[in-house]
Amino acid sequence: METRYQTPHLKTEIPGPKAKAILEKDSLFVSPSYTRDFPLVVEQGRGCWVEDVDGNTFLDMASGIAVCATGHCHPAILSAIKEQSEKLIHMSGTDFYYPAQSQLAERLSQRLPGAGGGKVFFSNSGAESVECALKLARHRTKRSSLISFFGAFHGRTMGALSLTASKTVQKEGFGPLVPGIHHATYGNLDSVEKLLKHVLPENELAAILVEAIQGEGGYRPAPEGFLQGLREICDRSGALLILDEIQSGMGRTGRFFAFEEDGVIPDIVTMAKGIASGLPLGACIAQPGIMEWPPGSHASTFGGNPVACAASLATLDLLDAGLMQNAVDMGDRLRSQLEEACLDQKAVVEVRGRGLMQAVEMDTAEQRNDVVMRCFDKGLVILGCGPKSLRFCPALVVDPVEIDCAVRIFAEALTETLR
Ligand SMILES: Cc1ncc(COP(=O)(O)O)c(C=O)c1O
Repeated sequence: METRYQTPHLKTEIPGPKAKAILEKDSLFVSPSYTRDFPLVVEQGRGCWVEDVDGNTFLDMASGIAVCATGHCHPAILSAIKEQSEKLIHMSGTDFYYPAQSQLAERLSQRLPGAGGGKVFFSNSGAESVECALKLARHRTKRSSLISFFGAFHGRTMGALSLTASKTVQKEGFGPLVPGIHHATYGNLDSVEKLLKHVLPENELAAILVEAIQGEGGYRPAPEGFLQGLREICDRSGALLILDEIQSGMGRTGRFFAFEEDGVIPDIVTMAKGIASGLPLGACIAQPGIMEWPPGSHASTFGGNPVACAASLATLDLLDAGLMQNAVDMGDRLRSQLEEACLDQKAVVEVRGRGLMQAVEMDTAEQRNDVVMRCFDKGLVILGCGPKSLRFCPALVVDPVEIDCAVRIFAEALTETLR
């Protein structure tokens, strides 16, 4: 498969014959709880392009839900994976040591703004990174309550699910959830103060968990002063400030962490998704003096596996070698073109986001769904987010031709759908 194409190429109906057979098998044997919107059965991927099992080529502006930060199968990631897996695939960092884990911990710790010397716990996913942050905050403060925000998605394990306040279907039938968790309105400091005045004693607050840009919530950047205000509330009450950078981190917004734009220094940061360019890895990074828990208190058999750590180290090298700057440049290009495409479209409420994390909000969920499906029919993969927005979160290797192609197809879909 090529690394770059000019335009998508669909040569069968979608799904094609081979895809149909796989969808059939999937429906028999795979959990129906997944939210698959498209009949896209992928065989291979390169850069921002994926090819399905019937040989159709799609332009992928979703990058495995913001995971394939360096694009599909970047050669540097492939060689890092190959080199590490020829030496050692697994040993368990819970019981033993290997070089890649401490090397990666050092690199991530160096990225955390603050005094330096922070420590890192490795997990396999976003939910587990959030789970770690929740446990760490309770352990460190000896307090039990947390505040997170309506619209936020933090994962689906019981702790992370309790912090999530996205869609009720994610919670229905799973209660009782973890106690002590309260939700406030994103972007509204008064709603936090109200909780602390009427519901939740300040001296019982362990942590506030927040995203600098709500991801699944609709690519909504925190309003100016919001994160600083939360920092002040945490300082006043002795609680910890946790920034969930699982979707917005790893250079996606043009900064390593999206919260850097707000000039705030968190106590704990969670990462996953793009951290290892597609291999399962998560991290919870804490400022010095916070991750002071005894051996046995928290661990994971697979977390920080050598191959995933090697892929992550190679990803960091690529970010330093120019991908972060590309996220800024291509983010600007994407944003201005989306704004232009939406200029006279009455059904578009707003274009928003930062860097390569851009969303278009429509008037209704139906319009959003129609536009996303029409884009798919034309070979462009984008995803919905929030109640009625759609998102572009391409790999950080995306180039001008790919941005122009994506927005051209999106503009066509928009005009045809809203006609
Ligand atoms: C901000 C944020 N936190 C946590 C998660 C959960 O990550 P995972 O699906 O890897 O458990 C997600 C996933 O979308 C996310 O966007």
